[in-house]
Amino acid sequence: MVDPHPRWLRWPSEAQRGRLAFGADYNPDQWPREVWDEDVRLMRAAGVNVVSLAIFSWARIQPTEDTWDFGWLDDVMDLLHANGIAVDLATATASPPPWLTAKHPDILPVTANGETLWPGARQHWRPTSPIFREYALRLVRVMAQRYAGHPALAAWHVSNELGCHNVYDYSDDAARAFRSWLRARYGTLDKLNEAWATSFWAQRYSAWEQILPPRLAATHPNPTQQLDFKRFSSDALRDYLRAERDLLRAITPDVPVTTNFMVMAETKGMDYASWAAEVDFVANDHYVRPGPQALDELSFSANLTGHLAGGHPWFLMEHSTSAVNWQPINIAKRSGELLRDSLTHVAHGADAVCFFQWRQSAGGAEKYHSAMLPHAGADSDVFRSVTQLGQALDALAPVAGSVRRPARAAILFDWNSWWASEADSHPTSRLRYRQEALDWYSAFLTLGVRVDVLPAAAAFENYDLVVAPVLHVVPAPLVERLTRYAAGGGHLVTTYFSGIVNEHDHIWLGGYPGALRDILGVRIEEFSPLLDHDTVELDNGVTGTLWTDRIDLVDPAVEVLAWYKSGEHTGRPAITRRPVGDGSAAYVSTRLGPAGLRPVLEELLAAAGLHSELPAEIRGHVELAMRETDVAQFLFLINRTDEPVDLSAIDGEPLVGAGTEATASPEPLTLAPRGVAVLRRT
Ligand code: GAL
Repeated sequence: MVDPHPRWLRWPSEAQRGRLAFGADYNPDQWPREVWDEDVRLMRAAGVNVVSLAIFSWARIQPTEDTWDFGWLDDVMDLLHANGIAVDLATATASPPPWLTAKHPDILPVTANGETLWPGARQHWRPTSPIFREYALRLVRVMAQRYAGHPALAAWHVSNELGCHNVYDYSDDAARAFRSWLRARYGTLDKLNEAWATSFWAQRYSAWEQILPPRLAATHPNPTQQLDFKRFSSDALRDYLRAERDLLRAITPDVPVTTNFMVMAETKGMDYASWAAEVDFVANDHYVRPGPQALDELSFSANLTGHLAGGHPWFLMEHSTSAVNWQPINIAKRSGELLRDSLTHVAHGADAVCFFQWRQSAGGAEKYHSAMLPHAGADSDVFRSVTQLGQALDALAPVAGSVRRPARAAILFDWNSWWASEADSHPTSRLRYRQEALDWYSAFLTLGVRVDVLPAAAAFENYDLVVAPVLHVVPAPLVERLTRYAAGGGHLVTTYFSGIVNEHDHIWLGGYPGALRDILGVRIEEFSPLLDHDTVELDNGVTGTLWTDRIDLVDPAVEVLAWYKSGEHTGRPAITRRPVGDGSAAYVSTRLGPAGLRPVLEELLAAAGLHSELPAEIRGHVELAMRETDVAQFLFLINRTDEPVDLSAIDGEPLVGAGTEATASPEPLTLAPRGVAVLRRT
C-alpha cells in the first residue's frame, strides 16, 4: 500500500479535495470581453471547476519591456472566482514576446545543423539562456506578487510542456551549460575521456572548452556524448523548472506548483522519472494517436503517469475532446470515446480531467483543434458529451483522493534504455523501445491481467512478475537488484538487446546479454537482426520480426519455452527460462508483437502463479483498473471493444453506469460499446 500522505503531494486547494477537478486551458485573451460572460455561464453548465489561465499571455501581460497590463487578467481572475472556478495560473513564460526576441535574438534555440529556430510559432527559447531566464523570472516574480493573495489561485503552472519544441538546443549557451554539467558528472577530463571512449577516432579532449554538443558531424557523433547530451538536455529543463518553482515557493509558499508533463507516445526527451519529485503534484498531457493500440497506449501512459506520481492522484492537465490539429490526418473522436478516454485516465489515478482548450479558437494555428466548446457552439454533440462527462465526474466524487491498487505484475520503463537503444550505429535502426513495452502491455490487457508500468528506479521488489523489455542500459547496481529480485523468488522477464551496456554505453564484455548473462543462463556471440520483411517462425506458433539471437545455453537448468523453427537459427532456443531459487529469469530473443506475446505471457504468468481478476468470458474485452481508500475499492471496467459486454458477474455498487450514458444504473450491468463502468466495493 502506498503512503497516503506523501510530503510532496500538495493538491490545488482544499476546496478541490473530495471532488474530481474538471476543466481546461482557458485563453480569454483570444476573445472580446463580452464572450467571457458566456464562457463562465457555460463552464458552470458543464460542471467546470478549474481552468489553466494565461499560458501563452506573456506578450499581452508585458506588451513592452517596461509596461505591464494586468487589468484584463485581474478581471478574468475575479470573474472566475465569482463563479466558483479555481485557477491553475500559468507563469506565462512558455512563449517569449516579439520585443524580447527582437532585442535578444541570442535566446533563440539552435538546431544540430546550426539553424536558428525563429520566433513566429511558440517556445522559441534556449533552456540554458541566462538572458531568457532573467526576463522569465522577472515575469514570474511580478505574477506571483500580484496574485499571491487572490482567492481564485489554486496552483501554479510553470511554463507549459517544458521541452515540447525546445528540448534539444545546440547553441553556444547550451555548449557552456553542457560543459558545466559534464564537469559535475565526471570531475576530471580523464574520467570523461574514459567514459566517452575518446581513444576511438582521435576524439581525446585536452581542455573542457573543446567539448561541444553533438552538432551535425561528418558521421555518427560519439554515442556516449549523444547519450550524455540527452541526459543533460532533460536536466537543463528540470533546472529551469526548479528556478521558476523556487521563486514561486518563496513568494507563495502555500500554493502548490506543477508543470504539465507529456507522458505520451512521441515524447522522448524528458526523463520524467527524474522530474516527478520536483513538483507538488504530477500533471500530464496526453493525446491519442489513432491506430490499433490507441486505447492501450492511452492506458499505458496513464498507468506510467500514476507511478511517476508514486501511486497517488495526479492531474490530467490536457487531452482533447475530439480531433487535434497536428497529426497528418486529424480524426474526430467517435461517440463514447470522450467519456471513455477521460475515465481511463481517472482509472489510473487522475483526480482531474482537463482539456486543451475551453473554447475552440477562431484564428491561429490551433483553430482546427477540438475544444470543450466547439466552433458549432453549445448546441453540439461535443458540448453535450462534455456536460455528460461533468456529471460522471460528479458521480465519481467518492473516488477523489483514492490511490492506485498495486497489481502483482509490473513492466519497467527506463528513459536511459529508451535513449540508448534507439541510437544510431546499432545492429538495427528499426528498434522502437516504447513500442516493445507497449506490446507487452497490450498482451497483459488481452489476457485481462492488471499490470503496473513503473519507472526502472521504482521499487519492483514486491511484484511477483517483472517484465523489463529492451532493458538496454544496465548499470552494476541494477544488475544486483535484478539478480536479488529473481533469487528472492521474483519472476524476471527480459528481451532482445537487454543487459548490453553500462551507464557509459560501454559493452558488458564476455558475450551478450552481458550484464544479464549469468542470471538468464544464456550466451549470445553475435546479434542477428532481421531485414524489414523477414520473419521467423517459432515452434509455439508465433512469428518473430526485427531481431533474433543465436542462443547458447550455458546453464543446463535453463528450459527452452520456444525454439526457432525457421531462419538461420532453426533448432536453436528462441525463448528461455532459467529457474533461480524460487524465482526465474526468462529471455525473449525476438520481437513478437502483442498477438505473439500473448501465449508467451500466458505461460510466464501461469508459472509465476498470476491470474486474471476478471471472469474468463470478458478477459480482453474489458480493461480492469483499481483504486482504493482505507474503506473502499473502486473497479474501473473499460470496454476495449465496439460491442456490448455483460458485466453481471461482477459485484459492486455502480457509481457510473455502463453505457455512454453517465448515469448510475441499478440494473445488472451491460457495458455499452466503448462504455465505462465504475463499481464501488466497501
Ligand atoms: C499541447 C499544448 C497546448 C496545445 C495542445 C494541442 O502540446 O500544451 O497548448 O498546443 O498541445 O494538442
